[in-house]
Parts: sequence; structure tokens; C-alpha cells
Amino acid sequence: MKIFLDTADLGEIRRAAEAGLIDGITTNPSLVAKVAGDGDPRDLYLEICETVDGPVSAEVVAVDADRMVAEGTRLASIHDNIVVKVPLTEHGLRACRRLRAEGIRVNVTLCFSAPQALMAAKAGATYISPFVGRLDDIGHDGMGLIAEIRESYDQYGLETEILTASIRHTRHFVLAMRIGSDCATIPPKVLYQLMKHPLTDSGLAAFLKDWETIGREI
Ligand code: E4P
Repeated sequence: MKIFLDTADLGEIRRAAEAGLIDGITTNPSLVAKVAGDGDPRDLYLEICETVDGPVSAEVVAVDADRMVAEGTRLASIHDNIVVKVPLTEHGLRACRRLRAEGIRVNVTLCFSAPQALMAAKAGATYISPFVGRLDDIGHDGMGLIAEIRESYDQYGLETEILTASIRHTRHFVLAMRIGSDCATIPPKVLYQLMKHPLTDSGLAAFLKDWETIGREI
């Protein structure tokens, strides 16, 4: 399963990329607004693309298809790593189809149902981003949605990659692996939780303590 980092924070992106922990980046307008300040967001996208060797999702903010296509085309011209993110609306799906016809990769975002995911795949989406945490927040079954999409994509041989999004904790990640999500995008906090286990820490402490008894270097 590919791991994407869900952030626009360059410090976090550099740390994870240098450690070889991630396959790409997802952003959204809220994440970019948090860090862009007075700067041009296009400069931020370029810096992210030059830091990470993999897809970098950058979202349009227009709501009509023509302007989404114009924004998406501009975003895609920033760097080859850019994947244009469009919302799962009628206009978003129209824009998706047109951008794909131009050879631009598209991530269809804000997906909350299996029929929405099917429509995105039919529009040629490269990735579909179902938001599991936000579904859980309203008492629905976020991971159940991932299973439904996996099942229907497999049933119809659809090649759109499932990019499980809005992940809040490691359990979401484990279930995404078990279901066979193609990718998962996670916030930096969850990325570092993934590699932690108390038995690793206590085991390492015991090994180092025992080694000290022989007082030797390797
Ligand atoms: C995905 O691309 C989104 O940026 C993200 O996963 C949304 O997560 P949130 O619900 O925690 O804001």
C-alpha cells in the first residue's frame, strides 16, 4: 500500500521524504492555507514537488468545470509530480474527464459513498479519496465504505486507485491494508505512530542494557 503524507508543512515533508517513509503527498486548500501565509501557493507546490519523488495532490478551488480545468491545467504545469484534485461534484467529474483527456492525473476528493466512487472511476479518475474519519465523525462506517469501494472496483475491473483519506489513527491504517486500499494518506502524527510499539522500545532498552555488561564496541 502506498503511503502519502497529508500535509503542506515543508518541515514534516522533508523529514518523512529524507527517511524514505512516503510515496507522495496530498494537500487540500485548508492545509495549504495554514502554511502558505503571504506567499504564492504555486511556489509552495513547487517546493513540495522538488522534495518528494512521487505524486503531489494539489486541489482546485473553482466550482465550475471550465474554471476547474483552467486551474488544474495551471497546477499541472508547475511540475510533473502534480496530481490535480477536484471535488466529487458534477462539475468536478466533468473537469476530471477533460483533464484526463489532456493526460493530467486527477484525484477526485470528498468522496463519501460507493456510488460517488463508481462515478469518479467512470470519469477516469486516477485516484478516489474517500474520507473515512469524517464519516466516522457523523456516526457512519468510514472503513465499511472502503470495503464497498474495493469490492465494486474489483467486480467491474476499475483501475482507479483507492486513496483512503481523513485517517485519524493507526487502526484506520491497519484496516485500509487489510481491505486492500491502494494508498492511504495520513497526517504526520499517525505516520510516526505507525512505527512505534512499546515492546520494541522495551526490547531495545533490555538489549542495550545487557550489551553494556560486556563493555565492548562493535
Ligand atoms: C485528503 O486528501 C484530505 O486532505 C484529508 O485526508 C482530510 O482529512 P481530515 O478529515 O482530517 O481533514
